[in-house]
Amino acid sequence: MTKQLLAGQRALVTGASSGIGRAIACAFAEAGASVVVNYRSSREEAEQVACDIQQRGGKAIAVQADVSEPEGCDTLFGAIERELGGIDVLVANAGLQRDAAFTEMSLGDWRKVIDVNLTGQFLCAQEAVRRFRQQGLDSQRSPALGKILFTSSVHQAIPWAGHVNYAAAKGGVKLLMESMAQELAEEKIRVNAIAPGAIKTAINTDAWESEEAQEKLLKLIPYGRIGEPEDVAKAAVWLASDESDYVVGTTLFIDGGMMLYPAFREGG
Ligand code: BGC
Repeated sequence: MTKQLLAGQRALVTGASSGIGRAIACAFAEAGASVVVNYRSSREEAEQVACDIQQRGGKAIAVQADVSEPEGCDTLFGAIERELGGIDVLVANAGLQRDAAFTEMSLGDWRKVIDVNLTGQFLCAQEAVRRFRQQGLDSQRSPALGKILFTSSVHQAIPWAGHVNYAAAKGGVKLLMESMAQELAEEKIRVNAIAPGAIKTAINTDAWESEEAQEKLLKLIPYGRIGEPEDVAKAAVWLASDESDYVVGTTLFIDGGMMLYPAFREGG
């Protein structure tokens, strides 16, 4: 059996009823963590994730909460305290897209994406830090007081026409993460981000469902395949584990090389 990188760790994964969040929750449990599987509206899916984890001998519970509201975060952290006795790892992952051409974008869609993808991550991270401090350092458990992973995106760096709300939120996550990491490292709180590229999930079905779309998308991915949620989850396990204890304030891109300006392969 491979070493369980997250043995004994208590983790909260937001937006874990589907896609990348679900894969992270499952991989964390596989690596030995107990997991709170947060969802906002997909109750059945979230309970299925928890159930799958339990059936494989892991510990997981599904908890409903809207992370973009302070009350939602209170519920969530109350549940993790009650059910798991504390928190060691937060994966602030919940996110969505509401795409539109710039002048067509409604204020509602701008706000929704900023609220969930940026403010939601801020609120959860703030509460996690408070809890880490209350719990105190337990060096048997981890050399870190606590660990936070943000789910960012290649679009924290790659501008994205037709998605200004999403790119603005992810750009915000980058500097939220880096500023927090700088502020909190002396307390042994480790803050990092994972930044997926094109991963096959429901958020981007249009980009890979048809052959034509796939072909177009693959031009942007030097490694020649679209990512799977498990590609991201494996990296997240390592970044949340103490194997990466000296990694602080870093964004780990999991993108098959999408960040490498692939359009320049034949030009420039
Ligand atoms: C977005 C996807 C997109 C990918 C690469 C992600 O952050 O959510 O819709 O396919 O970036 O552009």
